[in-house]
Amino acid sequence: MGLDILLGLQWGDEGKGKIVDVLCPQYDLIARFQGGPNAGHTLEFNHKKYVLNTIPSGIFNDRSANLIGNGVVIDPAIFKRELDNLVENGFDPYKAGKLLISRKAHLIIPTHALLDADKEMEMGQQKIGSTLKGIGPVYTDKIARNGLRVGDLEENNFKEKYARLKNHHLTLIRNKDLLNSLEEREHKFFEGCHTMLKLGLVDGEYHINQLLAEGKNVLGEGAQGSMLDIDFGSYPYVTSSNTTSAGACTGLGISPHSIQKVIGIFKAYCTRVGGGPFPTELEDETGELLRKIGNEFGATTGRPRRCGWIDLPALRYAIMLNGVTSLVMTKADVLSGFEKIKVCTHYEYDGKIQDHLPFDLCRKDLKPILKELEGWKEDLTHILDPKALPVRLVEYILFLQKELNVPIQYLSVGPDRLQTMEINLNAI
Ligand code: GDP
Ligand code: IMO
Ligand code: MG
Repeated sequence: MGLDILLGLQWGDEGKGKIVDVLCPQYDLIARFQGGPNAGHTLEFNHKKYVLNTIPSGIFNDRSANLIGNGVVIDPAIFKRELDNLVENGFDPYKAGKLLISRKAHLIIPTHALLDADKEMEMGQQKIGSTLKGIGPVYTDKIARNGLRVGDLEENNFKEKYARLKNHHLTLIRNKDLLNSLEEREHKFFEGCHTMLKLGLVDGEYHINQLLAEGKNVLGEGAQGSMLDIDFGSYPYVTSSNTTSAGACTGLGISPHSIQKVIGIFKAYCTRVGGGPFPTELEDETGELLRKIGNEFGATTGRPRRCGWIDLPALRYAIMLNGVTSLVMTKADVLSGFEKIKVCTHYEYDGKIQDHLPFDLCRKDLKPILKELEGWKEDLTHILDPKALPVRLVEYILFLQKELNVPIQYLSVGPDRLQTMEINLNAI
């Protein structure tokens, strides 16, 4: 009973969608607590693949209800597309109580996305590599107290509020060509707003606390990853929300006392999409191979993901920030066939070997210290029993577990929901 949190420990795309889908039968409610349609959470089952941007990954499960928390930012046009896709595939997100939206969630309006593009164009080489979904601008407006919220849709003066915010944005956009798409975007935006009103709008903080008081189980679903956190990530190459466990408190309206487990997800290696520092990045054939075998292309933008070896200083940092109580390792299958697997155990900078992440992860003199482990050849994708795992993989997992000092409870060996096993390797 209580609230568990599941979040990514790296730079996003760790497999959160898949693992929420696997775990959600244990929960009454799945609640997204931050981020917006910059997220792309992939689920696969019955030979079909679904990508969710805003909708929590419990939507396919019969038991769990789903809540889009106040910390999330919603683009009504993208949200409607997601809903349409579910309906086309025979699911009913409109079923009473199945999908709820917090009235305090902020709305991404069309000019937010244009502002995002405008800023990235101006930044040239220094650009963040944003998904251009308007995330930075909408959170900017939230903090600047200019934002529009889902609850405003129920008010009579929504159009006036919208016009005020849009006109403010129009004074800020420098590349006027961007405005060519505005009319069409606005059409889809208002269509999406209309659709949103067909769903259950709730005071999410009351709703979730009521469920917790009734002894129900809730899972908070994170988006992005800890290294993209606005405060603790590789700033300024980050997203604009708190992706760490603290974000679940403000993003849902729950007290820290209600948090039980914090489940941290990481890939057996590491990826990042967009700009910014990536100490273990492999800009060679090995990186290319990881991208190819791991199918490392963005679920939202299709961009190739940068690939590298696992980074333990960054993982230890994320575990510390989040208070992670158990770990999930995904994409172990991708490493099959690599003769040697490398692990970054420490960084070297200032002439010293250190575990501490420097203030500026972009610093040029930072070098990863790599330890080499033996790889395994066996295909893992059909393995369901941890006892059947190759010895070298077991050694890899035990090594990581010892270095991270948190148990790895689940292992994922393929994109399908069935390609997942609970492990307790210390007991084997
Ligand atoms: P999320 O944003 O954290 O939900 O992750 P994404 O969906 O963006 O990216 C993870 C990708 O890896 C998706 O294409 C998943 O289908 C896929 N995936 C998840 N777990 C595994 C795994 O264990 N093995 C393989 N090969 N693919 C996986
Ligand atoms: P999920 O939830 C990976 C990255 C972008 C960019 C930076 C800022 O699928 O793991 P933004 O659009 O927020 O202004 O982009 O953050 N980014 C992600 N990378 N997975 C994500 O989400 C991401 N969401 C944002 O590529 O570098
Ligand atoms: Mg993703």
